[in-house]
Order: sequence, then structure tokens, then C-alpha cells
Amino acid sequence: MKIDNPWKQNPWFESVAVAQRRAKRRLPASVYGALVAGSERGQTISENEAAFAALGLAPHVAGQQPARSMSTSVLGVDIALPVIMSPTGVQAVHPDGEVAVARAAAARGTVIGLSNFASRSVEEVVEANPNTFFQMYWTGDREVMVQRMERARRAGAKALIATLDWSFSMGRDWGSPEIPERVDVRTAVRMAPEVLRRPAWMWQFAKTGVIPDLTAPNLAPPGEAKGPTFFGAYYEWMNTPPPSWEDVEWMVREWGGPFMLKGVCRVDDAKRAVDAGVSAISVSNHGGNNLDGTPGIVRMLNPIATAVGDQIEVLLDGGVRRGSDVVKALALGARAVMIGRAYLWGLAANGQAGVENVLDVLRSGIDSALLGLGKASIDELGPDDLIVPDGFHRPLGV
Ligand SMILES: Cc1cc2nc3c(=O)[nH]c(=O)nc-3n(C[C@H](O)[C@H](O)[C@H](O)COP(=O)(O)O)c2cc1C
Repeated sequence: MKIDNPWKQNPWFESVAVAQRRAKRRLPASVYGALVAGSERGQTISENEAAFAALGLAPHVAGQQPARSMSTSVLGVDIALPVIMSPTGVQAVHPDGEVAVARAAAARGTVIGLSNFASRSVEEVVEANPNTFFQMYWTGDREVMVQRMERARRAGAKALIATLDWSFSMGRDWGSPEIPERVDVRTAVRMAPEVLRRPAWMWQFAKTGVIPDLTAPNLAPPGEAKGPTFFGAYYEWMNTPPPSWEDVEWMVREWGGPFMLKGVCRVDDAKRAVDAGVSAISVSNHGGNNLDGTPGIVRMLNPIATAVGDQIEVLLDGGVRRGSDVVKALALGARAVMIGRAYLWGLAANGQAGVENVLDVLRSGIDSALLGLGKASIDELGPDDLIVPDGFHRPLGV
């Protein structure tokens, strides 16, 4: 008779916070640090979560609904819950990287946003999840950008996410982790002390023979398999003049399909995005990784959704850690939310199953909130379901 090891930890986790604690224990300190840190003093990353906590829920005591629906669509793709994966570079978290995230999203009926700087090719990721949105930064010249768009389109990406809010604000009070140019023997020896303290993480790479690859295959020139290193890619990006609204219009035209502008914080920008022809915006401050001091992102949502929500799809991105956060965002006018760190913690804690676990935690939390609020569907949610403190909303650029 086989006896299970009684000390073995149950890999299932009940909340995103538990997944984060496991990620912290499992990942080398510099990898964990790269995921957890926001820019500068970390004010915005804290505010993103705190702003959700400042909102209350207004539940009913009886008359709740026996069946509750949370399916919707984003940019023409049907999704089983109002949560999609925001694009993140997840290179060193797990050997399966974006492919694990794509499979988990497919298994739970939702979309993966694939980062420009991803460690896996768009072709591999679309194979793992046909509902892939390809994300692009404004980097390189127009000819190069067209090549990258064409490659993503050919691979089968269903929408383009343009992330244009990056401002190269680099200093972090927590200290930035060292990112090696390449992972070669010399780097491995230098980083060995912190990596050896995380044997489970090291073992999962060792057994697949994969070492974290710090290149960006989706930025490879046509006909070349290997993309530039992370630093090469960053250099190109830093040396690209910032985009104008005409450039946004150009991108929309050039892509010619469903298009999301990610990084909108202001009502005036949301209106310009409508004029530029986008199909969706993501109200986002890059998860607190960009300009520190930007208010908690859910504070900007309702004024923007009120201004443009009847013309384009409005998503909320940043600070979502539980199902009730999703419900709060929907009640303030979002069609769906995007998550970043929440699924990265799941990926670090337990690979593909960990990402599925995070989506299950969110699904169950959304369902509990709908039950408590007496709703049969996410479509019935509105501001009356929330307790919104005076002065909560930050209508910028009105
Ligand atoms: C480690 C990490 C890498 C990221 N990489 C990208 C990226 O390559 N492209 C992008 O558009 N956003 C990127 N983001 C931002 C996310 O898409 C998203 O806006 C943010 O994580 C949302 O906040 P949350 O982590 O609180 O959910 C990254 C975020 C993190 C934490």
C-alpha cells in the first residue's frame, strides 16, 4: 500500500494572498522582487489595492438568486468569467512560462494577453490558447511594427493590445533586481547563492533542461528564430520617439481588427482613444510599475466608463486580488478586468494548475459577491451595489 507523505503541502490554495506567500518562498529573491515591486516609492502599487479595500458592498439578506451568470465577451471573444490575463513578461517564474498561462486561461475559458517581451513565441501561445491577444509597445520604426503585427495576425492572435503608458521611470526604493544580459555559466555561478536557497524552483528548470531565457522571440526580425536579449529590446524601445495620437490611429488602421489601448487614466485620453478608432481601452496604471503617484486605478474607472462606456469596451487593470474586486470594478462600469500579479503568483506557486487555481478563486469570489448582492448576472451590477466613500472617484482630464 502506498502511503502519501503526510507533510506534503496540498498544492491547492484558497486565496491569491496564499499563492503570493508560496511564490515568495519558492522564487529566488530577485525574481520575486521583480514581480512584487512597483516603481519609485511603491505608492501607486499600494494604492491600487487599497482603493479596492476602500469600496464596500451592500448585500441583501434574502431573495438572492439561485443561479448566477458571469459569462461575457471581450473584443468579440466569449469568456466564461469577466477576467482576462494582462500581458506580463514571466520569463523566469516557471519553465512553461506563457504557455502554462495560456493553457490555464484556455482551461478556464478566458483570454491571454501575450507580452511583446514574452519568452515564448506567439505561435506556440496561440496553439495553447486560440484566444490570444498580442500586446505591443511603441518600439522600433513603423516598418518593424508592421512586421510584428503581421506575424501576430498570421499566428492567429484575435486582438492587438497597444500598451503606450510606459515612461521609463526606473528607480525603485526597494532596489531593482539584477537582470543578466544572458543566462550563461558565469551568470549561473554568480547567482548561485540565492538560487540554491530555492531548490524547488531550480529543480523545475533543471528537470526540463530549460534555463530562463532572457530573449524576446516575438521581436525577432523576419526569418530569424531568436529575438534580441531583454536589454537589446529595451534599448530599441528607449530610443523610439514616443507615439502621437496620429500614431495610435495609424496602429488601429494597420492592425485592422479588434484593438485595445492599454494604460488610459484620464477622461480626455479615453475620448481621444474613441476618436482614434480603438475598440476597447484598459483603464490601467501599469500595475504601479510606471509613474509612481498615479492614484489607485479603480478611482479613475467610473468617470471614464461614464464618458465612453457606451462607445467602446472599458476594462479595468491593476490591483485585482479577489472576486469581490472584480465585482466592484464591474459595478463601476468595467466590462471585465485584467489581472497581472495574481496569476504570476499562481504560476510561481504551482505552474499551470496554480494559474487555474487563481482563476477558480476569482470565479468563486465573484459568485459569492453576486449571491450576497442578490444578482442573477454580472450585467445587473451597478454603483448602488457599492458603498463608495465621498471623494473616491478621481475624474482626470474632465
Ligand atoms: C512582472 C510584470 C511584468 C509586466 N510586463 C508587462 C508587459 O510586458 N506588457 C504590458 O503591457 N504590461 C506589463 N505589465 C503590466 C501588466 O500588464 C498589468 O498592467 C499589471 O500587472 C496589472 O496590475 P496587477 O499586477 O496589480 O494586476 C507587467 C507587470 C508585471 C508585474
